[in-house]
Amino acid sequence: MSGRENKTGPVESASRRSFLGAGSAAIAAAAFGAFAAKGQEREDKQMGQQVSGWAHILDGKVAVVTGAARGIGRAAAIALARSGAHVAGIDICATVDPHSGVTPSTRQNLEETGALVKAAGVRWRSLVIDQRDLPALRGAAAEIEREFGAIDILFANAGIQQFKPLLELEDPDWNITIDVNLTGTANAIRAFGPAMVKRRKGRIIVTTSTQGQHGTLFGAAYSASKWGIIGLMKSAALELGKYGITVNALVPGLIDTPLTRHEERYAQALEVGAKTPSGDVHKDEEAAKEALKAKSPLGVPWIEPADVAPVVVFLASDAARMVSGATYDVTAGDSANNAA
Ligand SMILES: NC(=O)c1ccc[n+]([C@@H]2O[C@H](COP(=O)([O-])OP(=O)(O)OC[C@H]3O[C@@H](n4cnc5c(N)ncnc54)[C@H](O)[C@@H]3O)[C@@H](O)[C@H]2O)c1
Repeated sequence: MSGRENKTGPVESASRRSFLGAGSAAIAAAAFGAFAAKGQEREDKQMGQQVSGWAHILDGKVAVVTGAARGIGRAAAIALARSGAHVAGIDICATVDPHSGVTPSTRQNLEETGALVKAAGVRWRSLVIDQRDLPALRGAAAEIEREFGAIDILFANAGIQQFKPLLELEDPDWNITIDVNLTGTANAIRAFGPAMVKRRKGRIIVTTSTQGQHGTLFGAAYSASKWGIIGLMKSAALELGKYGITVNALVPGLIDTPLTRHEERYAQALEVGAKTPSGDVHKDEEAAKEALKAKSPLGVPWIEPADVAPVVVFLASDAARMVSGATYDVTAGDSANNAA
């Protein structure tokens, strides 16, 4: 039983006692328990731990995570590790798109993910690779198999985003978004899939976006790449099912990562609501926060990466063995606006 279960167990029984009409001591215990549970919840969130109840669900499995240096990749790597999987984390750790407002990740970021993974008591390996480089990914697959003995899980998650009106896009803007997001995700499946085919077992999870389910103002290349990833995922699910491999897509809403926390992104969020950005990053961040909160069904401007990670753990587990070719949304309610 995990530490978190230990803490929430008495809370539940105390609540039940007070509901049954026990004295004030029980009510006080329930109140304290609820307070303690809230504190633990907050702590878990900060630590990127939302799945402590699944401590052994992936025991001994080997997971490859791309875009592992930070953000969603880091949160998923930690959650996979805390569920028992060894993790190989891949990231470019460098500037990818000079025209994007997103701060590049660093080797130190990747090592920080490694430290958090290792703290869960599992093995970690970091690999600095550009996912556009298929031979390098294939080399990594051979290395990971040699070192860990297998590859059970692939979370193909790395991606980039830039905003520019479609008619102003230069060839490099279009090409880099499609190359990194769509071709890079396909490369990861092509590089790590054969290890799963060999063992007739595997779990592949790719990261798309709500912007792969609808159009995006000033984000045509990104939207196109993310729609493409859904087609890629469904085709791979058809082809790989006979080898016992499932392929599914994570659909994050707006997640609090460096990808979304910069001036260009705040301006786009305001322009979607027909508001004019001021050009002052702090003012625009506040205005974007209010606008995003107002249109979120759960009243959340940005979702924590740790709130996305449990879906990756579920899809990677045996519990999801009959789930393939599907999309799983974590959008704080935005999915309610989609047709289906
Ligand atoms: N943050 C969001 O709101 C959101 C929403 C929907 C989908 N997504 C998708 O989730 C994924 C992760 O995004 P994030 O928000 O964690 O962003 P992030 O920028 O924090 O992390 C992305 C990581 O991918 C790495 N990366 C980029 N290009 C690479 C390449 N060519 N090869 C290897 N690594 C590369 C980056 O260095 C970075 O560490 C992306 O595919 C993104 O499109 C994010």
